[in-house]
Amino acid sequence: TLNQQYEEKVRPCIDLIDSLRSLRVEKDLSLPAIAVIGDQSSGKSSVLEALSGVALPRGSGIVTRCPLELKMKRRREGEEWYGKISYQDCEKEIEDPADVDKKIREAQDEMAGVGVGISDDLISLEIASPDVPDLTLIDLPSIARVAVKGQPENIGDQIKRLIQKFIKRQETISLVVVPCNVDIATTEALKMAQEVDPDGERTLVILTKPDLVDKGTEEAVVDIVHNKVIHLKKGYMIVRCRGQKDITDKVSLTEAIEREKAFFSDHLHFQTLYDEGHATVPKLAEKLTLTLVHHIKTSLPRLEEQIEEKLEQTQAELERYGPGPPSDDTERRVLLICKVTAFTQDAISLTTGEELKCG
Ligand code: GDP
Ligand code: MG
Ligand code: NA
Repeated sequence: TLNQQYEEKVRPCIDLIDSLRSLRVEKDLSLPAIAVIGDQSSGKSSVLEALSGVALPRGSGIVTRCPLELKMKRRREGEEWYGKISYQDCEKEIEDPADVDKKIREAQDEMAGVGVGISDDLISLEIASPDVPDLTLIDLPSIARVAVKGQPENIGDQIKRLIQKFIKRQETISLVVVPCNVDIATTEALKMAQEVDPDGERTLVILTKPDLVDKGTEEAVVDIVHNKVIHLKKGYMIVRCRGQKDITDKVSLTEAIEREKAFFSDHLHFQTLYDEGHATVPKLAEKLTLTLVHHIKTSLPRLEEQIEEKLEQTQAELERYGPGPPSDDTERRVLLICKVTAFTQDAISLTTGEELKCG
Protein backbone atom coordinates (compact mmCIF):
# COMPACT_ATOMS: atom_id res chain seq x y z
CA THR A 1 0.00 0.00 0.00
CA LEU A 2 0.94 3.64 -0.31
CA ASN A 3 1.22 3.94 3.45
CA GLN A 4 3.69 1.06 3.66
CA GLN A 5 5.78 2.41 0.81
CA TYR A 6 5.84 5.71 2.57
CA GLU A 7 6.93 4.24 5.87
CA GLU A 8 9.63 2.20 4.18
CA LYS A 9 11.06 5.10 2.22
CA VAL A 10 10.54 8.23 4.26
CA ARG A 11 11.14 7.28 7.88
CA PRO A 12 14.47 5.39 7.44
CA CYS A 13 16.02 8.34 5.58
CA ILE A 14 15.10 10.85 8.24
CA ASP A 15 15.99 8.48 11.10
CA LEU A 16 19.45 7.87 9.65
CA ILE A 17 20.30 11.55 9.70
CA ASP A 18 18.67 12.16 13.09
CA SER A 19 20.67 9.35 14.66
CA LEU A 20 23.91 10.66 13.15
CA ARG A 21 23.08 14.09 14.56
CA SER A 22 22.40 12.67 18.02
CA LEU A 23 25.86 11.02 17.90
CA ARG A 24 27.13 14.59 17.51
CA VAL A 25 28.96 13.83 14.26
CA GLU A 26 28.01 17.34 13.14
CA LYS A 27 31.29 18.56 14.66
CA ASP A 28 33.05 16.70 11.85
CA LEU A 29 30.49 16.22 9.11
CA SER A 30 27.75 18.32 7.59
CA LEU A 31 24.37 16.62 7.72
CA PRO A 32 21.45 17.40 5.42
CA ALA A 33 19.02 19.67 7.28
CA ILE A 34 16.29 22.23 6.87
CA ALA A 35 16.96 25.40 8.88
CA VAL A 36 14.16 27.88 9.52
CA ILE A 37 15.08 31.56 9.51
CA GLY A 38 13.14 34.80 9.56
CA ASP A 39 13.09 38.38 10.74
CA GLN A 40 11.43 39.02 14.09
CA SER A 41 7.63 38.68 13.99
CA SER A 42 7.71 37.19 10.49
CA GLY A 43 5.53 34.33 11.75
CA LYS A 44 8.25 31.73 12.25
CA SER A 45 6.93 30.36 15.55
CA SER A 46 3.40 30.33 14.19
CA VAL A 47 4.43 28.19 11.21
CA LEU A 48 6.37 25.78 13.42
CA GLU A 49 3.43 25.53 15.82
CA ALA A 50 1.06 24.80 12.98
CA LEU A 51 3.40 22.07 11.67
CA SER A 52 4.11 20.47 15.06
CA GLY A 53 0.69 20.92 16.65
CA VAL A 54 2.20 22.20 19.90
CA ALA A 55 2.50 25.67 21.32
CA LEU A 56 6.11 26.84 21.20
CA PRO A 57 7.65 29.77 23.07
CA ARG A 58 6.38 32.98 21.55
CA GLY A 59 6.29 36.61 22.48
CA SER A 60 8.10 39.80 21.69
CA GLY A 61 11.88 40.06 21.79
CA ILE A 62 14.23 37.15 21.19
CA VAL A 63 12.29 34.07 22.16
CA THR A 64 14.28 31.40 20.35
CA ARG A 65 17.70 31.67 21.96
CA CYS A 66 19.26 28.31 21.02
CA PRO A 67 19.05 26.29 17.82
CA LEU A 68 16.08 23.98 18.32
CA GLU A 69 15.98 20.71 16.45
CA LEU A 70 12.33 19.82 16.03
CA LYS A 71 12.04 16.11 15.20
CA MET A 72 8.53 15.17 14.17
CA LYS A 73 7.49 11.57 13.69
CA ARG A 74 4.10 10.62 12.38
CA ARG A 75 2.34 7.88 14.32
CA ARG A 76 -0.57 5.75 13.21
CA GLU A 77 -4.07 7.07 13.76
CA GLY A 78 -5.19 6.45 17.35
CA GLU A 79 -1.66 6.17 18.76
CA GLU A 80 -0.64 8.34 21.68
CA TRP A 81 1.18 11.64 21.66
CA TYR A 82 4.82 11.38 22.75
CA GLY A 83 7.31 14.13 23.52
CA LYS A 84 10.93 14.25 24.64
CA ILE A 85 13.41 17.08 25.08
CA SER A 86 17.21 16.55 25.06
CA TYR A 87 20.10 18.93 25.56
CA GLN A 88 23.65 18.56 26.85
CA ASP A 89 23.49 15.30 28.79
CA CYS A 90 19.91 15.77 29.88
CA GLU A 91 16.94 13.89 28.46
CA LYS A 92 13.36 14.32 29.69
CA GLU A 93 10.09 12.92 28.52
CA ILE A 94 7.24 15.40 28.25
CA GLU A 95 3.87 14.05 29.37
CA ASP A 96 1.61 16.87 28.24
CA PRO A 97 1.82 18.81 24.95
CA ALA A 98 0.92 21.93 26.93
CA ASP A 99 4.27 21.64 28.81
CA VAL A 100 6.46 21.87 25.69
CA ASP A 101 6.72 25.66 25.80
CA LYS A 102 7.83 25.66 29.46
CA LYS A 103 10.36 22.84 28.94
CA ILE A 104 11.99 24.66 26.04
CA ARG A 105 12.26 27.84 28.08
CA GLU A 106 13.87 25.91 30.96
CA ALA A 107 16.34 24.30 28.56
CA GLN A 108 17.22 27.68 27.05
CA ASP A 109 17.75 29.20 30.49
CA GLU A 110 20.13 26.38 31.28
CA MET A 111 22.06 26.64 28.00
CA ALA A 112 22.03 30.37 27.30
CA GLY A 113 21.53 31.73 30.81
CA VAL A 114 18.36 33.20 32.26
CA GLY A 115 17.40 36.33 30.36
CA VAL A 116 18.31 37.40 26.88
CA GLY A 117 21.58 35.73 25.83
CA ILE A 118 21.90 33.22 22.99
CA SER A 119 23.85 29.96 22.66
CA ASP A 120 25.10 27.79 19.77
CA ASP A 121 24.22 24.57 21.60
CA LEU A 122 21.41 22.51 20.16
CA ILE A 123 18.19 21.66 22.01
CA SER A 124 16.43 18.68 20.54
CA LEU A 125 12.66 18.24 20.77
CA GLU A 126 11.09 15.01 19.59
CA ILE A 127 7.36 14.82 19.00
CA ALA A 128 5.54 11.71 17.82
CA SER A 129 1.83 11.92 17.06
CA PRO A 130 -0.71 11.05 14.36
CA ASP A 131 -1.01 14.78 13.66
CA VAL A 132 2.57 15.65 12.72
CA PRO A 133 4.43 15.16 9.43
CA ASP A 134 7.64 13.11 9.22
CA LEU A 135 10.02 15.97 9.29
CA THR A 136 13.03 17.39 11.10
CA LEU A 137 13.55 21.14 11.15
CA ILE A 138 16.11 23.32 12.90
CA ASP A 139 14.65 26.52 14.29
CA LEU A 140 17.08 29.41 14.70
CA PRO A 141 16.81 32.70 16.59
CA SER A 142 15.07 35.50 14.70
CA ILE A 143 17.14 38.22 13.15
CA ALA A 144 16.89 41.15 15.56
CA ARG A 145 17.76 44.62 14.43
CA VAL A 146 18.19 46.27 17.80
CA ALA A 147 19.29 45.02 21.19
CA VAL A 148 16.82 45.30 24.05
CA LYS A 149 17.64 46.12 27.65
CA GLY A 150 20.14 43.69 29.14
CA GLN A 151 21.28 42.35 25.78
CA PRO A 152 24.81 42.75 24.54
CA GLU A 153 25.15 45.51 21.92
CA ASN A 154 26.30 43.02 19.32
CA ILE A 155 23.38 40.60 19.78
CA GLY A 156 22.36 41.15 16.15
CA ASP A 157 25.83 40.09 14.94
CA GLN A 158 25.86 37.10 17.30
CA ILE A 159 22.56 35.89 15.88
CA LYS A 160 23.70 36.43 12.30
CA ARG A 161 26.86 34.46 12.96
CA LEU A 162 24.84 31.59 14.42
CA ILE A 163 22.47 31.57 11.44
CA GLN A 164 25.34 31.74 8.96
CA LYS A 165 27.01 28.79 10.64
CA PHE A 166 23.99 26.67 9.69
CA ILE A 167 22.96 28.06 6.32
CA LYS A 168 26.42 28.39 4.75
CA ARG A 169 26.71 24.60 4.62
CA GLN A 170 25.83 23.17 1.23
CA GLU A 171 23.90 20.48 3.10
CA THR A 172 21.41 22.93 4.59
CA ILE A 173 18.17 24.01 2.94
CA SER A 174 17.17 27.47 4.15
CA LEU A 175 13.50 27.84 4.87
CA VAL A 176 12.91 31.59 4.90
CA VAL A 177 9.74 32.93 6.53
CA VAL A 178 8.55 36.24 5.02
CA PRO A 179 5.26 38.07 5.74
CA CYS A 180 3.09 39.03 2.73
CA ASN A 181 2.77 42.58 4.01
CA VAL A 182 6.45 43.50 3.72
CA ASP A 183 8.62 44.07 0.67
CA ILE A 184 10.24 40.69 0.14
CA ALA A 185 13.40 42.26 -1.33
CA THR A 186 14.17 44.09 1.92
CA THR A 187 13.86 41.02 4.14
CA GLU A 188 17.06 40.50 6.09
CA ALA A 189 16.56 36.72 6.32
CA LEU A 190 16.16 36.35 2.55
CA LYS A 191 19.25 38.51 2.00
CA MET A 192 21.24 36.20 4.26
CA ALA A 193 20.00 33.13 2.42
CA GLN A 194 20.87 34.73 -0.93
CA GLU A 195 24.39 35.54 0.24
CA VAL A 196 25.16 31.86 0.80
CA ASP A 197 22.97 30.58 -2.06
CA PRO A 198 23.05 33.22 -4.81
CA ASP A 199 21.51 30.91 -7.43
CA GLY A 200 18.55 29.99 -5.21
CA GLU A 201 19.31 26.26 -5.38
CA ARG A 202 18.62 25.45 -1.74
CA THR A 203 16.33 28.23 -0.52
CA LEU A 204 12.58 27.87 -0.03
CA VAL A 205 10.37 30.76 1.02
CA ILE A 206 7.20 30.55 3.13
CA LEU A 207 4.96 33.59 2.82
CA THR A 208 2.87 34.27 5.94
CA LYS A 209 0.05 36.62 6.97
CA PRO A 210 -1.81 36.59 3.61
CA ASP A 211 -4.82 38.03 5.44
CA LEU A 212 -2.81 41.15 6.23
CA VAL A 213 -1.66 41.79 2.66
CA ASP A 214 -1.95 45.44 1.59
CA LYS A 215 -5.01 45.99 -0.60
CA GLY A 216 -4.04 46.13 -4.24
CA THR A 217 -0.81 44.15 -3.81
CA GLU A 218 -2.43 40.69 -3.92
CA GLU A 219 -1.42 39.99 -7.52
CA ALA A 220 2.17 40.96 -6.72
CA VAL A 221 2.11 38.25 -4.03
CA VAL A 222 0.70 35.76 -6.55
CA ASP A 223 3.59 36.62 -8.90
CA ILE A 224 6.10 36.01 -6.12
CA VAL A 225 4.63 32.58 -5.39
CA HIS A 226 4.66 31.87 -9.13
CA ASN A 227 8.41 32.37 -8.98
CA LYS A 228 8.33 35.38 -11.29
CA VAL A 229 10.06 37.87 -9.00
CA ILE A 230 12.98 36.22 -7.19
CA HIS A 231 13.54 32.85 -8.79
CA LEU A 232 14.12 30.00 -6.35
CA LYS A 233 14.57 26.43 -7.51
CA LYS A 234 12.65 25.12 -4.49
CA GLY A 235 10.01 27.80 -4.88
CA TYR A 236 7.44 29.33 -2.57
CA MET A 237 4.58 28.31 -0.32
CA ILE A 238 1.96 30.52 1.30
CA VAL A 239 0.25 29.82 4.65
CA ARG A 240 -2.16 31.54 7.00
CA CYS A 241 -1.54 30.98 10.71
CA ARG A 242 -3.19 32.22 13.87
CA GLY A 243 -3.06 35.97 14.35
CA GLN A 244 -3.00 37.70 17.70
CA LYS A 245 -6.80 37.83 17.79
CA ASP A 246 -7.11 34.08 17.10
CA ILE A 247 -4.75 33.45 20.02
CA THR A 248 -6.76 35.73 22.30
CA ASP A 249 -9.95 33.97 21.17
CA LYS A 250 -8.26 30.61 21.91
CA VAL A 251 -8.69 29.29 18.38
CA SER A 252 -7.13 25.79 18.48
CA LEU A 253 -4.49 24.69 15.99
CA THR A 254 -6.95 22.20 14.48
CA GLU A 255 -9.58 24.89 14.09
CA ALA A 256 -6.97 27.17 12.55
CA ILE A 257 -6.27 24.59 9.82
CA GLU A 258 -9.97 24.58 8.93
CA ARG A 259 -10.09 28.35 8.81
CA GLU A 260 -6.96 28.46 6.69
CA LYS A 261 -8.52 26.14 4.14
CA ALA A 262 -11.67 28.28 4.01
CA PHE A 263 -9.56 31.42 3.68
CA PHE A 264 -7.63 30.23 0.63
CA SER A 265 -10.34 28.27 -1.15
CA ASP A 266 -12.65 31.32 -1.12
CA HIS A 267 -10.06 33.99 -1.78
CA LEU A 268 -10.50 36.17 -4.84
CA HIS A 269 -6.76 36.31 -5.62
CA PHE A 270 -5.19 33.42 -3.72
CA GLN A 271 -7.63 30.69 -4.69
CA THR A 272 -5.44 29.83 -7.70
CA LEU A 273 -2.50 29.26 -5.37
CA TYR A 274 -4.68 26.93 -3.33
CA ASP A 275 -5.77 25.00 -6.43
CA GLU A 276 -2.16 24.65 -7.55
CA GLY A 277 -1.08 23.21 -4.18
CA HIS A 278 1.04 26.22 -3.21
CA ALA A 279 -1.04 27.09 -0.15
CA THR A 280 -1.92 25.86 3.37
CA VAL A 281 0.04 24.29 6.21
CA PRO A 282 -0.83 20.66 5.34
CA LYS A 283 0.49 21.21 1.80
CA LEU A 284 3.59 22.84 3.24
CA ALA A 285 4.13 19.81 5.50
CA GLU A 286 3.86 17.48 2.51
CA LYS A 287 6.25 19.55 0.45
CA LEU A 288 8.82 19.79 3.23
CA THR A 289 8.84 16.05 3.92
CA LEU A 290 9.37 15.30 0.23
CA THR A 291 12.02 18.00 -0.03
CA LEU A 292 13.90 16.69 3.01
CA VAL A 293 13.85 13.07 1.85
CA HIS A 294 14.95 14.00 -1.66
CA HIS A 295 17.67 16.18 -0.18
CA ILE A 296 18.92 13.40 2.12
CA LYS A 297 19.06 10.97 -0.78
CA THR A 298 21.08 13.33 -2.95
CA SER A 299 23.36 14.19 0.00
CA LEU A 300 24.22 10.59 0.89
CA PRO A 301 27.08 10.11 -1.63
CA ARG A 302 28.77 13.30 -0.41
CA LEU A 303 28.20 12.23 3.20
CA GLU A 304 29.84 8.88 2.46
CA GLU A 305 32.81 10.70 0.90
CA GLN A 306 33.14 12.88 3.99
CA ILE A 307 33.06 9.85 6.27
CA GLU A 308 35.75 8.13 4.18
CA GLU A 309 37.95 11.23 4.20
CA LYS A 310 37.57 11.53 7.95
CA LEU A 311 38.35 7.83 8.43
CA GLU A 312 41.53 8.12 6.35
CA GLN A 313 42.69 11.17 8.29
CA THR A 314 42.02 9.45 11.59
CA GLN A 315 43.81 6.27 10.49
CA ALA A 316 46.84 8.27 9.36
CA GLU A 317 46.85 10.04 12.70
CA LEU A 318 46.61 6.72 14.53
CA GLU A 319 49.60 5.38 12.57
CA ARG A 320 51.70 8.35 13.60
CA TYR A 321 51.37 7.19 17.21
CA GLY A 322 53.07 3.89 16.29
CA PRO A 323 52.21 0.52 17.82
CA GLY A 324 50.73 0.49 21.32
CA PRO A 325 52.60 -0.91 24.37
CA PRO A 326 53.57 -4.62 24.16
CA SER A 327 51.37 -7.13 25.97
CA ASP A 328 54.27 -9.15 27.41
CA ASP A 329 55.34 -8.06 30.92
CA THR A 330 59.09 -8.29 30.35
CA GLU A 331 58.87 -6.41 27.05
CA ARG A 332 56.85 -3.75 28.79
CA ARG A 333 59.53 -3.33 31.42
CA VAL A 334 62.24 -3.02 28.73
CA LEU A 335 60.12 -0.39 26.94
CA LEU A 336 59.63 1.56 30.13
CA ILE A 337 63.39 1.46 30.95
CA CYS A 338 64.15 2.68 27.40
CA LYS A 339 61.71 5.57 27.72
CA VAL A 340 63.02 6.56 31.14
CA THR A 341 66.63 6.29 29.88
CA ALA A 342 65.83 8.39 26.81
CA PHE A 343 64.21 10.99 29.01
CA THR A 344 67.15 11.02 31.45
CA GLN A 345 69.56 11.29 28.53
CA ASP A 346 67.71 14.30 27.17
CA ALA A 347 67.73 15.89 30.60
CA ILE A 348 71.46 15.29 31.07
CA SER A 349 72.45 16.39 27.58
CA LEU A 350 70.66 19.63 28.21
CA THR A 351 73.15 20.46 30.96
CA THR A 352 76.34 18.46 30.12
CA GLY A 353 76.06 17.34 26.51
CA GLU A 354 77.00 13.72 27.56
CA GLU A 355 75.23 10.68 26.12
CA LEU A 356 73.97 7.46 27.67
CA LYS A 357 73.32 4.28 25.69
CA CYS A 358 70.01 2.47 25.87
CA GLY A 359 69.74 -1.36 25.75
P1 GDP B 1 8.16 35.12 14.91
O1 GDP B 1 8.73 36.23 15.72
O2 GDP B 1 8.72 35.10 13.53
O3 GDP B 1 8.29 33.80 15.58
O4 GDP B 1 6.61 35.46 14.72
P2 GDP B 1 5.34 34.88 15.47
O5 GDP B 1 5.00 33.51 14.98
O6 GDP B 1 5.47 35.05 16.93
O7 GDP B 1 4.22 35.84 14.86
C1 GDP B 1 4.23 37.22 15.08
C2 GDP B 1 2.78 37.71 15.15
O8 GDP B 1 2.15 37.51 13.89
C3 GDP B 1 1.95 36.93 16.14
O9 GDP B 1 1.09 37.83 16.81
C4 GDP B 1 1.14 35.97 15.30
O10 GDP B 1 -0.08 35.62 15.90
C5 GDP B 1 0.96 36.76 14.04
N1 GDP B 1 0.76 35.93 12.85
C6 GDP B 1 1.54 34.88 12.43
N2 GDP B 1 1.05 34.38 11.28
C7 GDP B 1 -0.04 35.10 10.97
C8 GDP B 1 -0.99 35.06 9.88
O11 GDP B 1 -0.90 34.22 8.96
N3 GDP B 1 -1.97 35.99 9.91
C9 GDP B 1 -2.09 36.92 10.91
N4 GDP B 1 -3.08 37.78 10.85
N5 GDP B 1 -1.23 36.99 11.92
C10 GDP B 1 -0.22 36.09 11.96
MG1 MG C 1 9.16 33.25 17.46
NA1 NA D 1 10.94 34.11 15.84
